[in-house]
This record gives sequence, structure tokens and C-alpha cells, in this order.
Amino acid sequence: MTLVRFSGFYYRYKGNEEYALNDVNLEIEQDRFILLAGETGSGKTSLIRCLNGLIPQFYPGFYKGSVQVDGKSNTEFTIAELSTIASIVFQNPENQLIAMNVEHEIAFGLENLGVPAPQIKKKIDDVVKLTEIGHLLDKAPFELSGGEQQRVAIASILALEPKILVLDEPTALLDPGLAQKILILLKKIQVKKKMTVIISEHRMDIVLPLADDLILMKEGKVIEYGAAKDVINGCNFKTLCINRPVIYSIFEQLSQNYELGRELPSSIPAAIKLLKEARQQ
Ligand SMILES: Nc1ncnc2c1ncn2[C@@H]1O[C@H](COP(=O)(O)OP(=O)(O)O)[C@@H](O)[C@H]1O
Ligand SMILES: [Mg+2]
Repeated sequence: MTLVRFSGFYYRYKGNEEYALNDVNLEIEQDRFILLAGETGSGKTSLIRCLNGLIPQFYPGFYKGSVQVDGKSNTEFTIAELSTIASIVFQNPENQLIAMNVEHEIAFGLENLGVPAPQIKKKIDDVVKLTEIGHLLDKAPFELSGGEQQRVAIASILALEPKILVLDEPTALLDPGLAQKILILLKKIQVKKKMTVIISEHRMDIVLPLADDLILMKEGKVIEYGAAKDVINGCNFKTLCINRPVIYSIFEQLSQNYELGRELPSSIPAAIKLLKEARQQ
């Protein structure tokens, strides 16, 4: 089922001459883990803002074309309605957490939607288990570490059971170990809930091996979109100024002098597999 459809969508922020989104055409299906990559300023955050209607409803600007979310134009929903279908976690969760303690934080969105109390309790139990934050329920959000806050932000949003979970550089403020934990947790949740996760993330070493699909953006355009293993072997991925996985870059250099097969690896296990196959030939 198609969850998101951009059709010839252009968007320019008021006061800017350049289009932040420039003829975007994109279809996103259910049950995918999608990495959104591109240089700074290529339009990733702007594309994400379309998913919960902030563009064009909140940011003043000019637009053409359409964005459909869950079968309806993003201008036909209110931002509040859309945010229960496509929920966004931002880079800095501190700004998103407002309640006195973690339990209230998770309950907040559900209460606003008028969900009855016994159901709220059940939903909280579910997401607390999924995100492994049971020990944090009585703590105030500001007492938590960055990684714990990020988990709470994800739990609060998962409680709303969105079809699409969107994360805009969610691990930018975390150290690599914590970033890895959060990203692996997200993949686990995505698979379990069969939801679609769209994530803009610079830590390609960690996130690329988890991704089903890869969207590449440049100057407001989607220049490539497809299965991650295909896109990383195309020219665009090699030439964009992005943070390619170290293992990928090593093998790209090696492949200039050695016969290593057609597909470059994005993870250590994939690299080992490739080396074994090359040795057998
Ligand atoms: N709130 C805003 N107001 C005006 N221009 C913006 C705003 N947000 C982003 N832009 C501009 O839109 C373009 C795309 O930016 P953005 O979507 O943030 O890219 P990315 O997330 O890939 O770094 C840039 O030229 C940026 O300066
Ligand atoms: Mg951005």
C-alpha cells in the first residue's frame, strides 16, 4: 500500500529564490526502513516537513504539485491529524519532551486524542517494553541522558501508533555506541510493527546496513531511490559529498585494483562475505 506520494512537488520558502524541493516525485510503501541521504541543504528536512503538513501549512512559501499521505493531500488534514499518521522525531528531543515525568510524557499525546484511560495504560506498557525504558517511568525528562531522552521521544510517538515514523538526524547529539543502540532498536520496532521508518542520518556506517531502501537528494531533487544495495552501487552515491561507510570506501579503493565482484559492501559482515566469495573464485 502506498503511504506517501509526492507528485511534481515544488516548494520555495518565502524570501528564498531557490526551491528547497524541486519537482519531487516519490512513492513510499508500507513496511520499509528508508534512509534519506544527501548533502547539507539538499532538502531532506524540507521533505520531512511535508509529511506532517508543516510544509505548506506552517512554513509560509510557494508550492506547486501535491503530497499525499495515507491517500489524502497533506493540505486536507490538520497538522495535528497528520502527526498521528506520520510522526516526526527531531534531532534534539529535549524540545519535544514537556511533561513532569516519562509516564505522563507518553500519556500526553494519547490523552489529547481522547483515548480512554485503560487503553492508555495498555499502550504505555507496550511501548515501554519495546523501547526498554521501564526503569525511567518516574523520572523527569530533563534528568535523562540524551540517549534516554531519544528513547522516550520515540516511545511517546510509538504510543500514537503512526503508520510512518520519521526521524530527522535522531542521533546527531549521541555518542556512537548510543547511536547504534537507538538505530538497531528502531529497526527492530519497524520490523515488529510493520511500519515505515524514514530516517535522515549521517551515521551511514550504522544505518546503511539496516536500510531496505535509500533515497538520495541533491539540490531539492530526489536523484535516486531504490533498494539500498542497488543505490550504493550507482554513480550518485559515489559522487555525492556524503559520509559513506568506511568499509564501503575501503572496498571501493580496493576494487580499482582487485576483482572483488560487482557489489560494494556497506557493513563488515557483507565485506567478509565478499572476500570469501572472491577467494573461492
Ligand atoms: N525555515 C526555513 N526558512 C527558509 N529557508 C529554509 C528553511 N529551512 C530550510 N531552508 C532552506 O531550504 C534548503 C533546504 O534545506 P533543508 O531542507 O534544511 O536541507 P537538509 O535537511 O538536507 O540540510 C536550504 O537552502 C535551506 O537554507
Ligand atoms: Mg536537515
